[in-house]
Amino acid sequence: MITAEENQLLTETSPGTPMGELLRRYWHPVATVADLEKDPVRPVRLLSEDMTLFRSERGELGLIGDRCAHRAISLAYGIPQANGLRCCYHGWTYDAEGQVVDMPFEPACLPLKIKAYRVEELSGLIFAYLGPQPAPLLPRWDLLIREDMNKTITPTMLPCNWLQCMDNSLDPAHFEHLHGVYGNYVMKKLGKPPMLHPGRHVKIDFEVFEYGIYKRRLLEGQSEDTPDWAVGHPILFPNILAQGNPERMSFQFRVPIDDTHTWDCITDAAVPKDGEPLWGAPVVRDDPLAYDETGRVLATYINRQDEMAWISQGPITDRTTEHLVTSDKGILLYRRVLLDNIERVQRGEDPLGVVRDREKNFPMIQIRRGSRYDGFREGIPEGQWGGIEAASVVGGPTSRG
Ligand SMILES: [Fe+2]
Repeated sequence: MITAEENQLLTETSPGTPMGELLRRYWHPVATVADLEKDPVRPVRLLSEDMTLFRSERGELGLIGDRCAHRAISLAYGIPQANGLRCCYHGWTYDAEGQVVDMPFEPACLPLKIKAYRVEELSGLIFAYLGPQPAPLLPRWDLLIREDMNKTITPTMLPCNWLQCMDNSLDPAHFEHLHGVYGNYVMKKLGKPPMLHPGRHVKIDFEVFEYGIYKRRLLEGQSEDTPDWAVGHPILFPNILAQGNPERMSFQFRVPIDDTHTWDCITDAAVPKDGEPLWGAPVVRDDPLAYDETGRVLATYINRQDEMAWISQGPITDRTTEHLVTSDKGILLYRRVLLDNIERVQRGEDPLGVVRDREKNFPMIQIRRGSRYDGFREGIPEGQWGGIEAASVVGGPTSRG
């Protein structure tokens, strides 16, 4: 249990708040490349700030303020030009630095500037950095760089605070109940066979490393050299779950849009099986939430069960009433690491996992992962996974909270 003040400290994302400042030390995805292909101008929100993302006619990316400096009309209605984004109202044009470079009806262009942030494209995603300069490097995580894998990006907007998603990722034990017992119950109600027969957790453990926290689980009947225990899978600090193994892996970016919304942006990647072609660019498959007639989330596959759990805790869960027990020790560690890193930022230091060393970043940062994808599937033959729910082909069996 924590105090209301501590809960506020851990969940606030606005500029100037302690957690908002910590989160601003990292790059976050704000859109997919496919989003900009559909429309080169897009309003985006990140860390409680509204902005306008655009691609100019020259192909340059820009992330600038949401309002024109003239009379505050939304720049989401802007028109891309070769030299930037032109406001629809009177044609004031902004370059990627937020500088006004054209005022068509004025005798001269005034030296006005609106806010602008660094933005980079990688692996089908557009990443933004909202923190102080000099910006750290955009981390070249292995999954984002590898070209020998087919990748699917599955984004979902969630009406809850990002920390609820992360509490879940530091809690391995929920897997056997939420995805095993509850998942099977959902299947039973649909008249389908059980999804999973997960083994019982014998022990769990956690370890802080250079880029975040490893979590490990040992299930009944497994020996201690099983990769899930010997290697584990990491949370890349502060808000990415990295699962899998070198052949098949996923990243879950839990992007804090504001205090009560999170963009759950999942990239699954797999080395193609014999004869399968490489797709080239990542495929995007939007996956909006669906509800039953009572307003409950339809949680028919693993990721959706996790999202259901986070959402059902409320927009910002009241941690003053929680009762943390032995299986929550990873959550306690994670919150302590968050608080330590808030203090590091306040001392003017870089927090955990920020990448500035080009040698480490190139060609990519390899993350050791030890998740097997077969340990929980005893209940259902491989070929039947797709039959449970079309979405589960990508969102389900490859993903384990
Ligand atoms: Fe989970």
